[in-house]
Amino acid sequence: MNILEIKNVCKNYKAEKGINTKVLKNINLTVKDNEFVGIMGSSGSGKTTLLNVAAGIDSFDDGKINIYGNDISKMKRNELSLFRRNNIGMVFQDFNLISSLSIKENILVPLILDKKYEIIQGDSIDKLAKLLDIEEIMNKYPYEISGGQQQRAAICRAIINSPKIIFADEPTGNLDSSSSEKVLEYFKLLHSEYNTGIVMVTHEIFSASYCDRVVFLKDGVIIKEIIKKKDRFEFFNCIMKEVQAFSMIDKRRKSNEV
Ligand SMILES: Nc1ncnc2c1ncn2[C@@H]1O[C@H](COP(=O)(O)OP(=O)(O)OP(=O)(O)O)[C@@H](O)[C@H]1O
Ligand SMILES: [Mg+2]
Repeated sequence: MNILEIKNVCKNYKAEKGINTKVLKNINLTVKDNEFVGIMGSSGSGKTTLLNVAAGIDSFDDGKINIYGNDISKMKRNELSLFRRNNIGMVFQDFNLISSLSIKENILVPLILDKKYEIIQGDSIDKLAKLLDIEEIMNKYPYEISGGQQQRAAICRAIINSPKIIFADEPTGNLDSSSSEKVLEYFKLLHSEYNTGIVMVTHEIFSASYCDRVVFLKDGVIIKEIIKKKDRFEFFNCIMKEVQAFSMIDKRRKSNEV
């Protein structure tokens, strides 16, 4: 089953002098349940915009997005918020933790909003906190903890509600290699055991090698897609070759522009 269908999606930003910047140009991307998809591309290529649009956080100008067969562009604001809370887990690039709430309260926000707080199994937050190594900081505030700890709290908040699909924007960008590995292994477990679809933006070849498929974005266009054929190590090498090829093209383009 397709969890996510992005069809011919275009997104423009309107600049001050009325000039439109085309940030997403005719994007087509389908994600099946039990698929772990990576998005790579240079800074400014549109990765965050694509994730925000796909998750219904940002609007788009043309095309169609279906999540579990639900056309999100047809939903009213409140309906979309509820749908997002019930189905989507989001890890933002800049974490988006609420500074006036403790880490524990931040993590519980999705449950409190849905009044599910009383019915959550007592140990699930403790289990997740242990797995993500944030047990010690649960009563602290976002400004009292490191970037890596904030990132792990944001990941915990995204998965506490058992979403059907997770959109993660560079979720390992601030983590050391052992924490990154834990998060990626957990994502893998979610998608293999619970059929959670995962779409992850990353700059890191190591993180991307956990995916089943990686799409490359350049100037708002998907220009390449590679699929894992064998194991993670072989896939790591495939991704590295692609990344090197793209950086060569970029260098050539820049030297032509000068
Ligand atoms: N609110 C906005 N208004 C106008 N332009 C924007 C806005 N947000 C992003 N852009 C532009 O859209 C393009 C894509 O931005 P986006 O944040 O999606 O890139 P990205 O691939 O996530 O980059 P990074 O790897 O640095 O996070 C950039 O050129 C950016 O300047
Ligand atoms: Mg980004």
